[in-house]
Amino acid sequence: MKNSRCRVVVLGSGHGSNFEALVAAANADWLIVAAGSDRADAPLLARAARHGIPGFYREPAAYPNREAHDAALAAALAQRAPDLVLLAGYMRLLGPAVLQPWHGRMLNIHPSLLPAWPGLRTHERVLRAGEREHGATVHFVTAELDSGPRIIQGRLTVGNGENTATLAERVHRLEHYIYPKAVGWYATDRLKLGKDMAILDDTPLVDPVIIEEAACAG
Ligand code: GRF
Repeated sequence: MKNSRCRVVVLGSGHGSNFEALVAAANADWLIVAAGSDRADAPLLARAARHGIPGFYREPAAYPNREAHDAALAAALAQRAPDLVLLAGYMRLLGPAVLQPWHGRMLNIHPSLLPAWPGLRTHERVLRAGEREHGATVHFVTAELDSGPRIIQGRLTVGNGENTATLAERVHRLEHYIYPKAVGWYATDRLKLGKDMAILDDTPLVDPVIIEEAACAG
């Protein structure tokens, strides 16, 4: 955003550790103006309250169908006028009413090296398959689940004796580093969505930027 601070809204359903990392990383280029959820009891909203960041929720049970819930969420987002919407553990599929207005302005973080392991329970599946590499991906959101143009990945080597808890913790650390980095690029107009690829510094990202675990420490 050349002349103003980029306004960010974070949507999540759960724990909110990425939200916390994003709050800590916000700077002169961008700020979080609201946190939203599909659950009134999401810890993410309690975290937002502690930081004095306004929270909102739209629970699906309060609406007659998926379209009505999507419309309510879209309206809630529009009201906050974000430049960028971040999904951080938002556990519902979004319909066109939410996706279209934010096309090219919505990012997601996923706990795997996409395109490997879209969907849920990635750590468990990675361990069961005996994979040696794992990580997290930030990508632009498109209509297809976990498959929009990739921007940045944090990568680790799966250790011997690793379990889902140790892996989840290590992947979270990667996430807390790569998500703010991608937001910073977007906020300073270095990152945008091209036709089928993310574009960083005028270069189409055929492959995402890779950050190794050692570089994510701290
Ligand atoms: C993260 O692992 C993210 O990749 C996935 O959901 C999890 C959210 O964690 N989409 P938290 O709520 O930010 O702690």
